[in-house]
Amino acid sequence: MSKRSFASDNNSGVHPEILKAISAANDGHVVAYGDDPYTDRAVALFRKHFGKQVEVFFVFGGTGANVLGLKAATEPYHAVVCAETAHINVDECGAPERFTGCKLLDVATSDGKITPEHVKPFLDHIGFEHHVQARVISISQSTEMGTVYTPRELKTLSSFAHKNSMLLHMDGARIANAAASLRIDLRKITTDVGVDVLSFGGAKNGMMFGEAVVFFDPKLAVGFKYLRKQGTHLPSKMRFISAQFEALLAKDLWRRNAEHSNRMAQLLAAELAKLPQIKFTQKVESNGVFAILPKKYIPLLQKKYFFYVWNEQTSEVRFMTSFDTTEDDIKDFVRLVRKTLA
Ligand SMILES: Cc1ncc(COP(=O)(O)O)c(C=O)c1O
Repeated sequence: MSKRSFASDNNSGVHPEILKAISAANDGHVVAYGDDPYTDRAVALFRKHFGKQVEVFFVFGGTGANVLGLKAATEPYHAVVCAETAHINVDECGAPERFTGCKLLDVATSDGKITPEHVKPFLDHIGFEHHVQARVISISQSTEMGTVYTPRELKTLSSFAHKNSMLLHMDGARIANAAASLRIDLRKITTDVGVDVLSFGGAKNGMMFGEAVVFFDPKLAVGFKYLRKQGTHLPSKMRFISAQFEALLAKDLWRRNAEHSNRMAQLLAAELAKLPQIKFTQKVESNGVFAILPKKYIPLLQKKYFFYVWNEQTSEVRFMTSFDTTEDDIKDFVRLVRKTLA
């Protein structure tokens, strides 16, 4: 029987429709580096979802998408304000600082979400040459804590950013989960609410690899093709990323996969909620479930279904579901938890 875990949506395999698209693209020669019909079609689909004006660039991974998108939006004396839990802050080995030269100004949040109040203190230093200049607010949608910004929250943040000559960057490694959770189109949490730069995730939603950097203002994209190449993210066999995005975005695969993983997270949370020893630490709004478990039982549970401890001090753990999580996985895991905690 195939083995699955609750460690990460990155641990899952590739959706069969995506694999089929890769296989179908494996036909003859096409021009390398993106000058090919697969890439043309995939870019057209991004424009269908996000608007005709967007500029789209495919890259290998999410860290690269974040680093390059931020690089395009900043000078080295700028700063990027983000949540302390942001992937760019804790899980990218300092790559954003190294490659943009910018300082990250991280703020404490209870749920991974930033508000204008978090950013305001940094505005006091604007124009003072001894301080870095806050230029970008970077948010994750959905957040690393599994929470989701509403369109209204996003609009408030972008209006605040623009009023203060800042830009809004969205790490959308899991943007499909956010849109599915809100039951709205991708455009409603990006184009329509004033996002400037987006890292659009593929790998966490059923692709083998590949992410996209989307610019909503084409002026920000000027020179990006050179940055991508310098930043080592220009795939020669681009068609195999493009074909995957085509499969994901042409119909509703992006939504089906995200809805499924969100639904599995809801089911897992509902089942675990029946056990009084488990305390939830975040609202379950996408495909992550955060909870405090009695410490001594964690290694026993991890043996069969691996998952990560999020905070060793508080014994908080993170369960992630994926497009291929099954109801049986959840039932079996909850049975194990119940037995172990008994
Ligand atoms: C919120 C978020 N952003 C970005 C990434 C980066 O992805 P990659 O591992 O492809 O660099 C991840 C990966 O887990 C993530 O969770």
